[in-house]
Order: sequence, then C-alpha cells, then structure tokens
Amino acid sequence: MKNIYKNKIHLEPPTGLLNDPNGLCFFDDTYYIFHQWNRFKCDHSYKEWGLFTSNDLISWKHHGSAILPDTPKDSHGIYSGSAIVYKQKLRVFYTGNTRNELGLRKSYQHIAESIDGNTYIKKNSFETPLGLTENNRDPFVFKHRNIWFMIMGSQTMNHNGVVTLYTSEDLYEWDYKGIFFRSSELSQMCECPNLIDFESTQILLACAQKRDNVLDTVISSKSGYFVGKILNNKFVSSTKFLALDYGFDFYAPQVLKAPDGRYLMWGWMSSMSSAEEQTCPTIKFGYLHCLTIPREVKFENGQLIQRPVHELLNSSVLLSRNTDSVFNFEQVDYALLLQVNFDSLNSSFTVNFDGGTAALHYQNGQLTLQRRNWSSNEIESRYLFIEQIKSIEIYIDLSAVEIFINSGSKVLSMRYFPDHDIKKHEFLCNDSHIVTLIEIRQ
Ligand code: FRU
Repeated sequence: MKNIYKNKIHLEPPTGLLNDPNGLCFFDDTYYIFHQWNRFKCDHSYKEWGLFTSNDLISWKHHGSAILPDTPKDSHGIYSGSAIVYKQKLRVFYTGNTRNELGLRKSYQHIAESIDGNTYIKKNSFETPLGLTENNRDPFVFKHRNIWFMIMGSQTMNHNGVVTLYTSEDLYEWDYKGIFFRSSELSQMCECPNLIDFESTQILLACAQKRDNVLDTVISSKSGYFVGKILNNKFVSSTKFLALDYGFDFYAPQVLKAPDGRYLMWGWMSSMSSAEEQTCPTIKFGYLHCLTIPREVKFENGQLIQRPVHELLNSSVLLSRNTDSVFNFEQVDYALLLQVNFDSLNSSFTVNFDGGTAALHYQNGQLTLQRRNWSSNEIESRYLFIEQIKSIEIYIDLSAVEIFINSGSKVLSMRYFPDHDIKKHEFLCNDSHIVTLIEIRQ
C-alpha cells in the first residue's frame, strides 16, 4: 500500500512515535536534531533519544538510537533536554525519568558527553531540589554573561507551573538558584522552556502543560513566549504569554543558534489527544508524528517573527505565477509552497486543501483555519483576527501544512490527512493579487 501521507520536508521517525525535538546543536560541521522517540510502538510507553543529522538543513539522515534508558536513574525514559558543544565535545543534558514499584515518579537531571556524536557516556546526575514536585524536567542550557544557565520546566508543591534556574561555571556542577520565572499562564506544569538571547531583549519560550479536561483553543497546545530581561537570576517579563503558533499542531519547540548567528527553531508538530494519536492514519505505516520545518526566528517590533529557512528553497522549481481569481493546482509526490501577495488592503481569500479536507479562509479581518478531524469526523476551527493581510506563504507537505502570514508575523501549523494520492487544492480570491506556486525539491 502506498503511503500517501509520507512527508517530504518534515522530519518523521522511521518507525514508532516521535515527539519533542531535543539537543539541537551544530557539532563537527553538522546539525544535530535529537528527538523523543518510542522506536517500538506508536504510543508514549517508552522514551529514548533518536537522532537526525544534516550538513545543509535540507537532507537529513536518521541514525537510530542515540541515548537509551539503561541506568537506574533513567530507567523509565530519556526525557527531553538540550545540548552544548564545549571543548570539542558534545555535552547533552536530559531528564532521566524513573518510577518506583508504586508508580511514583522521580526525576534526575543528567549530563552525558560524546567525543564523536555517536557514543554518549553518562557522566553525572542530580535530583530535584526541595520545594518542587518530581515533575521537574527538560533542562535547557545556554550561556548568559559568561555563566552557564540551565532552566528547567518545573512544578511547585501547590501545582503551579514555574521555570527554575541552575547555574554552573563548568557545565558539570550545577547550583540551584530557585525560581527563574512564574506566571499563572504556565498552568499546572511548565514543560520545555527555552531562552533566546537577543542581547538587549530575552525571550523565554515555555509550554504550559494542559490541565486535564480543559480545552484550549486560543494558543495551540499552549506553546508560547514571554518577552523580557534576565535580571539577578530572574526572568522579568514585560508581556503576557504570546502564542508561537495559532494552528492545531505545535508544541515543545527548541531553538538552536546556528554558526552564522541565526536562531533556528523546530517544534513537535502535534498536540493530538490519545484518541487522535491512535486513529492517526500514519499508524498503519508504523510511525506517528513529525517535526515542523526549520524556522528562522527574529525579534522585530516587539514580537517574534518566524520564517522557514531559505535553504528549503535552494533547489525549488517555479511551477506557476498568475493573477487568476480561481487557481487550481495538484500535488502528487512533492511538497509545495503557495505564495500570495495581495495588492488591496481588504483582501479576502480561501484556500481549499485537497477538495476541502481542510481550508483557510480570510474575510473581514478574521482568519479561520479548519479541518475535518480524522478521529471525531467533526469540523474543527482555529480563529485569529488580523487586520490586514499583505502576504501568505503556505508550505504544503503530504500531510502537514505550515502557514506564514505577513512575512512570518503569525504562523499556523496543521496536520491533515488527505485520502488521495493526487491532491487537488484550490486558491480563490477576487481581490488583486499575485500567486506563485513552487515545487520544493530536496
Ligand atoms: C513534552 C514532554 C516533556 C517530556 C517529554 C517526554 O512534550 O512531556 O516535558 O520531557 O515530552 O516525552
């Protein structure tokens, strides 16, 4: 049976379930993307780190397992974490998850090291400090003013999500410095914090783990950011929790500073419930989930701007450029980029993906992204008010779509599962515009 969902420009595991991107770094002229992985099954019952590498951000190789849950202090999962290249070695920081006979969780933060990027020697680990629950995980390490900072997604004894801080001079011994940031918007537990240091401004990325049974439709899976500054070992925010992505599927992003100074971000392109996971059409091909395409992140006019990296279009082919009010186009075994520039300030438009399996509408300032949910069979929608749309760029892969509005000032990500080999899409717009269709070749 042909796999009509297999994406071309979104990283997917060879088998099993992939979740968060981990340990992003550039080591030995190579980009490393580790990831949460259950290589055995399409569920969350087991976690190790798998690894993808690339030299050009375009062609990637999967190397199988990188770090396994094979010690008593990480026996129930190699959870998320980060990496730093230090003294020609790759040092990784991850959470070892353990459970006792009663099923109670205990977390250890681990440091492991590799000289060749293949073999990882586990060095030391430390336990959760007093005042926090064992939901303490996802160490993210960065340098701030010549001190190494490790921020962690944590939970107070009262079950409030917070980000905690450790510092180090040698990346080996870590001192606990207490709560780095707290906000009621971090819900009951914070996961996967990241920090982007734009020198005069710092951005704290965080994920607020959903409270059970609370449906959040405003921020996709509650992955967002705060703008602020680091002052005396605290993050002082000057904003509320701002969404990173307004679509259906985006969580646990991680940022890498590339050698040329760009900040690159990948997210886990899912916020599926377990019912959605277990009915996801890719399961019959033995794998589940993908990462987003790499996005360059910049800070402009008080907000994060996300643009797909230019490398994605290195060998692209122009298929069409027109001003038609109805533009039909087909997709077979390749990823497409649909770019539209509008002349008028009050444009309205519609994009129908695969005959309406999913759609994007814009009218009277309201952008609506819709899809038919493969598990419930209901139409579900995300709404966003945007006063003016001047441009859209839509990366259409075989079962993943990423939409960049107004040069990346708003982004919407979505999985959708068209049931055709030849997908028929449509762009409709009566206002004056130029539409460009590009085939993305890898
Ligand atoms: C986020 C997360 C992390 C954790 C990992 C486990 O998706 O829950 O907090 O480390 O996934 O797979």
